[in-house]
Amino acid sequence: MAKTDSNSAHFYLTTPIYYVNARPHLGHAYSTIVCDAIARRKRAMGIDTWFLTGTDEHGQKIERSAKLAGRTPQDFADHIAGEFRALWDRLGLTYDDFIRTTEPRHKRGVQRLFATLRDRGFIYKGSYTGQYCVSDEAWVDVPPGAPCPDCGRITETVSEENYFFKLSAFERKLLEFYEENPGFMQPDSTRREVISFVRSGLKDLSISRSSFTWGIPVPGDEKHVVYVWLDALANYITALGYGSDNPADQARFAKFWPADIHLIGKEISRFHCVYWPAFLMAAGIPVPRSIKANGWLLFDQGKMSKSRGNIVRADTVREVLGADALRYFLLREIPFGQDGNFSFDALVQRYNGDLANGYGNLVSRVVNMVHKYFGGTVPESSPETAAEFALRESTTRTIAEFAPLFDELNFSEALKSLWNLVAETDGYLTANAPWKRPADRSEADHASLQARVLSTAAEAIRVITALVYPILPDAASKVWQQLGQGDIADAAKNAFLTNVAWGGLKPGTKLGEPAPLFPRAEKDAVTRMQNLEDENNKNAVEAASKQEGAKPEAPTSALPVAPAPPPASPSVNQVQDPSMKPGAGIPKPTESTPHSNETAPTQAPGSEKPVPTTHVSQVQPELTSVRLDSAPPPAASQHKPLDTQENKGNPPEAPTQPAQTNHISIDDFAKVELRVAQVLVAERIPKADKLLRLEVDLGYEKRQILAGIAQYYEPEKLIGRKIVIVANLAPRKMRGLESNGMLLAASLPPDGAPVLAGFLEDVPLGARLK
Ligand code: ME8
Ligand code: MG
Repeated sequence: MAKTDSNSAHFYLTTPIYYVNARPHLGHAYSTIVCDAIARRKRAMGIDTWFLTGTDEHGQKIERSAKLAGRTPQDFADHIAGEFRALWDRLGLTYDDFIRTTEPRHKRGVQRLFATLRDRGFIYKGSYTGQYCVSDEAWVDVPPGAPCPDCGRITETVSEENYFFKLSAFERKLLEFYEENPGFMQPDSTRREVISFVRSGLKDLSISRSSFTWGIPVPGDEKHVVYVWLDALANYITALGYGSDNPADQARFAKFWPADIHLIGKEISRFHCVYWPAFLMAAGIPVPRSIKANGWLLFDQGKMSKSRGNIVRADTVREVLGADALRYFLLREIPFGQDGNFSFDALVQRYNGDLANGYGNLVSRVVNMVHKYFGGTVPESSPETAAEFALRESTTRTIAEFAPLFDELNFSEALKSLWNLVAETDGYLTANAPWKRPADRSEADHASLQARVLSTAAEAIRVITALVYPILPDAASKVWQQLGQGDIADAAKNAFLTNVAWGGLKPGTKLGEPAPLFPRAEKDAVTRMQNLEDENNKNAVEAASKQEGAKPEAPTSALPVAPAPPPASPSVNQVQDPSMKPGAGIPKPTESTPHSNETAPTQAPGSEKPVPTTHVSQVQPELTSVRLDSAPPPAASQHKPLDTQENKGNPPEAPTQPAQTNHISIDDFAKVELRVAQVLVAERIPKADKLLRLEVDLGYEKRQILAGIAQYYEPEKLIGRKIVIVANLAPRKMRGLESNGMLLAASLPPDGAPVLAGFLEDVPLGARLK
């Protein structure tokens, strides 16, 4: 039956299910690691724990990302869901179940939930016209053309027949519920925001879509798919077995539901604290006990996110410093609930200070000395002096402090308290210097001191290790072995780690071999991590350029509204790497031009030495603009821009020299509005064999451009590509179509084959070039 209090012997906790539009980064790892630490501690307390994570795979955002990557949504989702799961496994995360919203068990449960809501009278059919933020998959109450109030991205006008959920009926109920359950939402800032959102009035919510198909069909009306947030939130119950007729599933659901903690990032509080409890109340299902929102991990001044392009991968940290180092840093450095900065420098500083020189060094000193002076067997201690008494008292106090801090998710303070004990134990060791016998101390007295000090220090280490196990599982497991305590997993199962008390390390215990825990990170650790990130970005760009010209991780929908300054690069040494010069990632014309055999440069344009194979160092490729089809194909030996109109009156430049023009003032240049745009649509125009019709997104607006590149670029290969356009060119008509702007491209000799300008780093749409 459902639990009645949070001290029951079951514990169910969940992470958000992550969108499969992009690969996992540290932000996702953060939430999942927090859950893993909690789950490990709960299990170590002897509590029957269920830890769920998974992936959110339906909706417009995923459908579009898949399209950009040139894959089917299912294939795309399979791929990225696999990456999430494999990463969690590499990080040693102990989830009990991984739900994917494309699984039949989930589909069945969502349909059951939808039907239940409808049967209970909370769903009606209507039509919706309004703004939708595809990136957040959220309905937003703004006028057409206005950006999303939450994320600032462009919104789209949606006008379609939908099913509505009577959310308005839950305004009072929710407010009463929040009032009666002050612990439901944390931190306080989240609680306040949610309450004020509900107080400002709740409108009914559209819970189906009918203009695309990548979702779970509404039962009985398959023209509609269930709104992706209703679909996604339901994972928390469908994974347990809601909607299944199998008794084992039903038993699991009965045992673990309602959830004890839905751990989320703060930006999705409204969905979890308002919509989700309302859906559940309407369906007659108990609501979760608590929603805990973590703050944002910031990197380079902004929320770490794929669409900003400022991400760091968990694997980078894992490969250089280990998974434990990442866990420790995230939990120690960031007070839970607040935003926190990630930096490689801070990470390495914490690692060296707290792990290598702190805990790791302490363990190594003590274990080595027990081996050296006592053949690896814990000695019988001589009677306690004031120093041992003090350390024992501190240890007992730390045990008492640690548990409530951890259980309030105050990991940072819990670890701080524990590391005070590490420092105190270290100080105790140094003060008593068991490695050094003063001339005035007898050998017998010294042996007695050594026995007392080393057994006392080892006992303190044992307690520290038991407590830190949920946060440093790998290190704790090694130390447990070194202390002769066997397999820490067994100890955890038997609740030995949380019932820890002074005095557990028995004299006569045979210690294991000392082994390094946290080798000191050398000066180059930061650069190594930066290089791994650079390498990865480079591979991603290369993969993207191979993949039909599309950037698989930069869906239209996930791009910030420009004109914002492009995010700083996540690494500082990119410019030192010649292979990373801007332009290195632009596909070579060999991939897209029919003339490539003779004329392709041996390197991508923009990289170190663009050397056309047939014109070695004679001709500089030139940046030019490409627009229309009215120009004849450039004559073989003539090097001339494709756009005749924009260059009327300018004689073609001599092929052996870069453009020789009179100087212009910066004000003249400033008149030209160059901006980043992304190609949304590219298609041939019937009877115009040189012309492509493009629809491009500038972030703040979309427009049509006609470009004379049809002989050089396959239209499909352009979709998703970010290009540079002249945005303030007077519109003109060609073949009855209006062209609003002009593309920039290098014009390659001998015949002016265009190579579109692009960027190595991810740049927000609409960003101005100046
Ligand atoms: O929102 N700092 O998925 P998502 C801290 N599918 N946490 C971060 C973070 C950062 N910079 N970036 C991501 C979705 N996260 C929906 C959820 S749940 C029914 C559906 C973490 O892929 C944080 O937990 O955008 C955040 O809420 C989540 O990843 C968002 O992942
Ligand atoms: Mg998000």
